[in-house]
Amino acid sequence: MALKLTLLLALPMIALVAILPTGEAQLGGLGGLVPTIQVQGKLYCTVDGNMRGSQNPPFPNAAINVMSGGNVVSTTITNENGEINYRQAQPLIGDLKAEGYLFVTPPLSTCNASLPSTGRLVSSMSYTGNNVVGGLNITNLVPTGFQLMNI
Ligand SMILES: *[C@@H]1O[C@H](CO)[C@@H](O)[C@H](O)[C@H]1NC(C)=O
Ligand SMILES: *[C@@H]1O[C@H](CO)[C@@H](O)[C@H](O)[C@H]1NC(C)=O
Repeated sequence: MALKLTLLLALPMIALVAILPTGEAQLGGLGGLVPTIQVQGKLYCTVDGNMRGSQNPPFPNAAINVMSGGNVVSTTITNENGEINYRQAQPLIGDLKAEGYLFVTPPLSTCNASLPSTGRLVSSMSYTGNNVVGGLNITNLVPTGFQLMNI
């Protein structure tokens, strides 16, 4: 029994040791900072997904594909206030800072039945700077503004 337990504990350790060298190289941690991408913004339940006038209900629980070029890099979901809070350690497929954009998966009619059920909201992203928080070197991106695209 004791031997079995030792083996069970030892196996994951071996796996971990095998992974570590590449893992550390990928994090590029010379200064110990983990390069991280962060996207923050807000999605509204309006004709174009942006803040408009004084009536600005949020678009909550909307799945958003984080895209780089033509590839889905990751997915994030707006919270109950329509806020986008995406954070991911690099490296990612592709270069989000250079060619990242956001693709909102559900149609606008999901948050308001009077809004279109065709087309999807898409926004490119812009870089607003880096900051260091708790061992992370964060590359900050924000949506530049959503558009309803016929796709
Ligand atoms: C739903 O969308 C319609 C059309 O844009 C708008 O007039 C209405 O105020 C919206 N309803 C809510 C609850 O936001
Ligand atoms: C954070 O990363 C950027 C490049 O993504 C780099 O230019 C900057 O020097 C880094 N900051 C620190 C404190 O390492």
